[in-house]
Amino acid sequence: MATAGVSLVSPGCDSRPPHGTAASGPSRTVSVGAFKLGRPDLVLLITGGTNGQLEMCNCAGPMAGGATKRSGLFKSYRAAFPNAFTLDSGDAAILDSIDADKNDFIFQAFQRMGYDALTIGDQELYLGYERLKKRLEPGTTEYLSSTVTTAEGLEKLPLTPLVVRKFDGVKLAVVSDLRKDWIMGFPDGRKKQFEFGPIEPLARKVGELKSQGYTVVAVCHGNNDALEKTAADLKPDLLVRGNTAKTEEQLLDVGGIPAVKVGSFEYVGVVALKLGGDGRIKQIEYRPEVVDDRWPADDRLMEIYQAYAHAAMRRALDAERKTGLDYKPSNYCGGCHTAQYANWLKTRHSGAYNTLVVKNRTGDPNCIMCHTSGFGTEKGFYTFEKTPAMANVNCQNCHRFNFDEHQKAGFDFKKYKANKNVCTSCHTPITDPKFEEQFETKLPKVRCPKWPR
Ligand code: HEC
Ligand code: HEC
Ligand code: HEC
Ligand code: HEC
Ligand SMILES: [Zn+2]
Repeated sequence: MATAGVSLVSPGCDSRPPHGTAASGPSRTVSVGAFKLGRPDLVLLITGGTNGQLEMCNCAGPMAGGATKRSGLFKSYRAAFPNAFTLDSGDAAILDSIDADKNDFIFQAFQRMGYDALTIGDQELYLGYERLKKRLEPGTTEYLSSTVTTAEGLEKLPLTPLVVRKFDGVKLAVVSDLRKDWIMGFPDGRKKQFEFGPIEPLARKVGELKSQGYTVVAVCHGNNDALEKTAADLKPDLLVRGNTAKTEEQLLDVGGIPAVKVGSFEYVGVVALKLGGDGRIKQIEYRPEVVDDRWPADDRLMEIYQAYAHAAMRRALDAERKTGLDYKPSNYCGGCHTAQYANWLKTRHSGAYNTLVVKNRTGDPNCIMCHTSGFGTEKGFYTFEKTPAMANVNCQNCHRFNFDEHQKAGFDFKKYKANKNVCTSCHTPITDPKFEEQFETKLPKVRCPKWPR
């Protein structure tokens, strides 16, 4: 997605969600159960192995998991415990061989959920240097990578070797451990883009931090054997086992160090800690929270998912084209198809961009995606200044073929009918909940008159 030059959310924008579940306000939270250990000094909200999952489905009904509800869970915990820290143990990205462009939306979603730290795991490294450089936008989320750095000669990626936070009398430090031999099938070319450092300096750093009163959490992005190595080499106060799609319902013990294992988008592992003045753990309580319907949906995350869903459906519609359509302005097509153009001007599709102007959301790619033509593709909308004719829902959003193709004798127009599948790439159960039942009445409102006329 070509987001360069377009800020994620324009300053002073109307941030009320235009599309979403009416029941959920942007700042709704629910109450969170108390801990047996009493008031904790520190609460860690841990996820991992979410594997590119944003939502279960593009549907309005109740669904477990998903970024909208996870965000509602985070907000609810943060409201109850201002000393909460959110940490992902890696494999947030989807492997680029499966749905490469989805990662643009995933990293954005992690920023918007307000993660404190997102650990770089092997799936993130698999994206390779170029993709990571494009996707890791510096923001409030820190990209944690203590043992892996950018290879020499390449511009540094925004990776942080150590994430520290200070809460009321509590000092937290988080480091990560990922070693070259824990990664399998890593393409040679990509291996050269990263440097895997030795563990000793990190072990010394952890020792120092502990002696300075920090509570140290180490994320191990490896298997169970790796977890034992991290425990023995770093001796942190708490271990988090990443690189997993499975959640362990109980706290683990690895050589006397408590360890948490959380995997899949359905869970958030909640760890409550009582700490001594020296930063050592006095009491620990673990609670695997299921990301289910109890949590209020955060529509700001649904906005990201809607934009992703549109991009994915558009890709499916245009599967035979590598760079997307060769989008032409509506008045270009209208030069010959005058009656159809006149009809289009009367529909709200010709005013779709103005809606974003009114809402002050022209800087938000998650809105631009459906209210313009071909955003994120080579010939599509970029900014209003650069591509004014691509603002609005133009002809080719529905007629998904190129001008020069359709000029050729014998071009198969039937293959590219503007049918319901085309509409539902924008009219989704979230953006237009009644579209399915209203299709027969909505279609005549936008269908163009017969040609030639
Ligand atoms: C230079 C004039 C011209 C321009 C510009 C033009 N068209 Fe056409 N279009 C035609 C002609 C002529 C036909 C009939 C072709 C045929 O029947 O083989 C046609 C056919 C079509 C049809 C099918 C009509 C049917 O009978 O089913 C659609 C849809 C269409 N054009 C859409 C577009 C779109 C979208 C654009 C802009 C990307 C566009 N046209 C630009 C001349 C033009
Ligand atoms: C998946 C595509 C999609 C995305 C993404 C999207 N919209 Fe929409 N939007 C639509 C559709 C479709 C409609 C028309 C719904 C209907 O017919 O009831 C619409 C209608 C609207 C309306 C109502 C227009 C009116 O006058 O009633 C507003 C306001 C709006 N969108 C704003 C936004 C904003 C702001 C964003 C970004 C957060 C956004 N949209 C993102 C598809 C989308
Ligand atoms: C919201 C979707 C939508 C948009 C936008 C749209 N059309 Fe159409 N158009 C349709 C539908 C639906 C039909 C009937 C099915 C078909 O032919 O694909 C149609 C049919 C046509 C036809 C053929 C009519 C016939 O004889 O069967 C032409 C030509 C055409 N549109 C041109 C245009 C031009 C030019 C524009 C832009 C100015 C445009 N359309 C914008 C939905 C759209
Ligand atoms: C590229 C995305 C996109 C596609 C494709 C699309 N629409 Fe829309 N549609 C929108 C947006 C965005 C709006 C709201 C425009 C606004 O007012 O800001 C809208 C508005 C409408 C409206 C006006 C709502 C009302 O009740 O007055 C109708 C009707 C409609 N679309 C029908 C269709 C149909 C039928 C199709 C398929 C043939 C279709 N649209 C294809 C994005 C799209
Ligand atoms: Zn992994």
